[in-house]
Amino acid sequence: MSANTRVDIRIRKAKVADAAGIARVQIDTWRSSYTGIVPTEHLSGLSYENCESRWNDVLTTNRADVIVLVAETAEDEVVGFASGGPEREKNSVYLGELYSIYILREYQRRKLGRRLVVAVSRFLLSVGLCSMLLWVLKDNHPSRRFYESFGGEEVSKKDILIGGASISEVAYGWKTIANLAD
Ligand SMILES: CC(C)(COP(=O)(O)OP(=O)(O)OC[C@H]1O[C@@H](n2cnc3c(N)ncnc32)[C@H](O)[C@@H]1OP(=O)(O)O)[C@@H](O)C(=O)NCCC(=O)NCCS
Repeated sequence: MSANTRVDIRIRKAKVADAAGIARVQIDTWRSSYTGIVPTEHLSGLSYENCESRWNDVLTTNRADVIVLVAETAEDEVVGFASGGPEREKNSVYLGELYSIYILREYQRRKLGRRLVVAVSRFLLSVGLCSMLLWVLKDNHPSRRFYESFGGEEVSKKDILIGGASISEVAYGWKTIANLAD
């Protein structure tokens, strides 16, 4: 699909039956975005079945304070997703967290990411979480530009282990997300 192709994509709350579609987007997007950042053997060893099983658990649990959204084509193909809920490391400033956001490469840069962030922000506000942070791989520069495009400020950093390699992450924070949800 060329960069100018118009796509009719809807954003909706994920159902348990979306676990396989979400896993496909997550693994395919990891592979297309993280090559050169995350060890190749780790990327090639990722299992669609294991990933689907984890999403199946999340979607079956269906926590009231956690949201999973999918971006879906008119042909019912999941091409992106995002999830969010309470911040997970007891941060005293940032109450909500964008846990994940992934869009298949051929659907990137069509404002789907922006639409997903708006939808997650609205949900976080609706459950009383009025600020947000997220973690991104330090060398994932395109995504960092994306977060900076709507005012994210670098607020923390840490190293994590992925596939046996120590990889740096940075956190972006928004002290209020009222304007993101507009
Ligand atoms: C990061 C991601 C979610 C952004 O979603 P998207 O739909 O591609 O981005 P949008 O079209 O909503 O972009 C909105 C704005 O963000 C900025 N932006 C987005 N992608 C960018 C890029 N690759 N380079 C520079 N700026 C970018 C631009 O300002 C863009 O506005 P513009 O297109 O009018 O210039 C998506 O590209 C993606 O899934 N990337 C791979 C996976 C990933 O890294 N996920 C994040 C893990 S923390």
